[in-house]
Amino acid sequence: MSIAYAGQRAGGRSEKTRSCVVGLICNICGRRFAIEETEFACPECGKGLDIEYDYEMAAARLREVPLAERPHNIWRFEELLPIVSRAAQARVGRHAGYTPLIHADRLGAELGLSNLYIKDDSSNRPSFSYKDRVVSMSMARLLELGHSEIGCVSTGNVGTAVAAFAAKAGVKPYVFYPNRLEPTKARVCRALGAEVCQVDGNYDEVNRACRALAEASGLQIANITLRPFYADGAKTMAFEIVEQLDWQSPAHIVTAAAGGTLSSRLHKGLVELERLELAETEQTRIHIAQPSGCNPIASAILAEDAEIRPVTPETAAHSLAIGAPGDGYLVIDAVRKRGGTGGFASDPEIFAGIDLLASTEGILTEPAGGTTVAVLQKLAAAGRFEPDEVVVAVITGNGLKTLEDHPAKPWPSMVRCDSDSMLEVLERMQHGEHHPDD
Ligand SMILES: Cc1ncc(COP(=O)(O)O)c(C=O)c1O
Ligand SMILES: [Zn+2]
Repeated sequence: MSIAYAGQRAGGRSEKTRSCVVGLICNICGRRFAIEETEFACPECGKGLDIEYDYEMAAARLREVPLAERPHNIWRFEELLPIVSRAAQARVGRHAGYTPLIHADRLGAELGLSNLYIKDDSSNRPSFSYKDRVVSMSMARLLELGHSEIGCVSTGNVGTAVAAFAAKAGVKPYVFYPNRLEPTKARVCRALGAEVCQVDGNYDEVNRACRALAEASGLQIANITLRPFYADGAKTMAFEIVEQLDWQSPAHIVTAAAGGTLSSRLHKGLVELERLELAETEQTRIHIAQPSGCNPIASAILAEDAEIRPVTPETAAHSLAIGAPGDGYLVIDAVRKRGGTGGFASDPEIFAGIDLLASTEGILTEPAGGTTVAVLQKLAAAGRFEPDEVVVAVITGNGLKTLEDHPAKPWPSMVRCDSDSMLEVLERMQHGEHHPDD
């Protein structure tokens, strides 16, 4: 296989990353396309294109640089990422990824799991969600192509990631939001200097409109026209989880799904690790968590259906409100191959999941993470995990961006500023009898 170095300029080797990207491929019909191809979907099948690599070359290049010399960020295994320009990579920055994998001993004790871990992307940088991984790749590709403007369609977190990365890279961001999302996410985009446009439709409608907008305007859109690059950024989470477990792939991964990018690319990342003989990953099951009000992927898995039936979302988990998931068919395939399952949670269960994670592990997540915790809890109760199996729950977003959507926690009442009054309140609190609105 020949290596196509997109965006390559003449010059020394230091201008290039060690990427072993070959080109684009359609996962359905196997047709191959040059990496410069401007189509992001297969003209035959209509499905999104995937990135293909030269794995022999990747194996050789991975051996060239010891782990100790590799950066602790998403570019750690750059051989398996589609960006070839060192300059573009540097302009995107080196802060995303390599988030903590935390042994969740207190949550695990609640659920009867002694080896439960949280992959904590609520602390991802720069914008506190897993979307920092995928938008890093879109932004780097945009810079390789020489553009100075970027758009995105977002259920919430892509927008904040695009706004942050665009500011750092010095390109102009346009964020198109659907008519329902958590207000702080739009405010964060504005605060980061992005142009924000709220469009009167749900995510799936705005997504369709943005495709047409891209054609009409030539605007590059992070998660539409740059989609193959965007999606491959999600694989980095699989690499990190396995490395952080000392190259032992877990028995189970539980993750929220909306469009299906993260869950399908966790699978791709695990397959690549196996193929490169870095870890045995075939035993890892991937379980998909969705809100009851928008669960087209989980329902298809549970019904053993090969087809996704689009739904109209009705859920407080706005970041998961995608009724027609573009990568849903890849998720179904991954879960079938690995023997995982799907589960869903109602809005009250999602907020209870947020509270359970907060009160046991001190991690504040948003409804997407609450969905994962709620489904994790149900799967544990149903006996889907052995008590000592390694289970990784992926927490994909930070709860500070969604506090206004959480059922109100009353504001604490004012107590007189003297030790007698405070002692009285302290004793009531110690007995669980103090309520802030008393
Ligand atoms: C916090 C969070 N978690 C999970 C997801 C779902 O990701 P995907 O669309 O890759 O399935 C999203 C976005 O859609 C998100 O914002
Ligand atoms: Zn095809």
